[in-house]
Amino acid sequence: MAIRPEPALEALEFFAGGGLAGLGLSGFRTTFANDVDPMKAAAWRANHTGVLSQGDVWALEARDLPGRPTLAWASSPCQDVSLAGARAGLGGQRSGAFWGFWRLMQALDAEGRAPPIVVVENVVGLLTSGDGRDFVAICEAMAQAGYRVGALEMDAALWLPQSRPRLFIVAMRGLAGPEAAAPLAPFHSPRIVGAFERLSQGGRAAWAWWSLPAPSRRNTDLIDLLEDDEVVSWFDHDHTQALIALAAPLHQARLEAARASGERRIAAAYRRVRTENGAKVQRLELRLDGLAGCLRTPAGGSSRQYVIVCDGGRLRARRLTGREAARLMGLPDGYRLPKSETAALKLMGDAVAVPVVRHLSEGLLLPAALGRLAAA
Ligand SMILES: C[S@@+](CC[C@H](N)C(=O)[O-])C[C@H]1O[C@@H](n2cnc3c(N)ncnc32)[C@H](O)[C@@H]1O
Repeated sequence: MAIRPEPALEALEFFAGGGLAGLGLSGFRTTFANDVDPMKAAAWRANHTGVLSQGDVWALEARDLPGRPTLAWASSPCQDVSLAGARAGLGGQRSGAFWGFWRLMQALDAEGRAPPIVVVENVVGLLTSGDGRDFVAICEAMAQAGYRVGALEMDAALWLPQSRPRLFIVAMRGLAGPEAAAPLAPFHSPRIVGAFERLSQGGRAAWAWWSLPAPSRRNTDLIDLLEDDEVVSWFDHDHTQALIALAAPLHQARLEAARASGERRIAAAYRRVRTENGAKVQRLELRLDGLAGCLRTPAGGSSRQYVIVCDGGRLRARRLTGREAARLMGLPDGYRLPKSETAALKLMGDAVAVPVVRHLSEGLLLPAALGRLAAA
């Protein structure tokens, strides 16, 4: 029997960072990627063979974008979804990177090359930012362009030992994507239902409850992804004690119980500033549930994640490494990270988890795109 090659569906990747979305988009081939940050662009190029244009999305024109893409992916920076941009439209100021991306989709549409699938990935906060108006503005811009629009809240913890809830807005035009009649667990969370209820009549008419099955049970814990104890740098005794002293008494007691068990147990921890009795205090927030906390960029004063290992009655602490962060995003060890740990952690803290994108692609995007090819 002749083996037919997979159709090479073309994808454009905006706000591409290290290109993790493209790595998860099974069945699609990224023909063009864009990111403004030189470190991200270098990481993308070190791991992909396609074309990445480094620069501001607002500097791009439709003629820069190749071919007839089936899909455009935008992991737009969360702080940049500004209503001013939505109101000002194409002629508006450089108000939000998302609108710089959307302007390109409109320009492709004018040339008859609009992608039938558009995915926007963002933090879940986009559902409620600007009193919920940012999410409404995006969905309604897509609805006005003739797309059916739906959103899913997907937590990387279903696939990987990292708590990382993220929002995926999926828009399709001219395709029969699988739809449910009503919200479906686990991806149509109460927050998604609340955001749907804030849409206008037009937005609701274009809404789709995309049907995506839940994945099978996760089979890795944080303990499985850690580097060997021999190759990492541990804090000395005083540093470890000072760190643990920042934990609340209940967390200290849990850690002590883990240590006293003699078993190998792992805690993941972040330092955070909390207000207690009117005063700001540094606290170490620990979790011992087998998950890492959500990776975030080490920039802007937020601390790096700590790993505390209890083993044989001993307790040691250190920082999470860039390679461990990459594993927590579902990357194989062959993925080339920047040499600087800070850059590697920034790259991973900003990224989208690969298995989440793969699940979305295999369960929803690819079937919809291939359905159209089959019907053609
Ligand atoms: C949330 S991150 C997306 C990361 C990507 N999904 C990944 O997996 O690595 C947002 C990206 O948008 C880029 N960015 C921010 N403003 C931009 C702009 N005006 N034009 C192009 N890229 C921009 C940032 O450099 C950053 O890499």
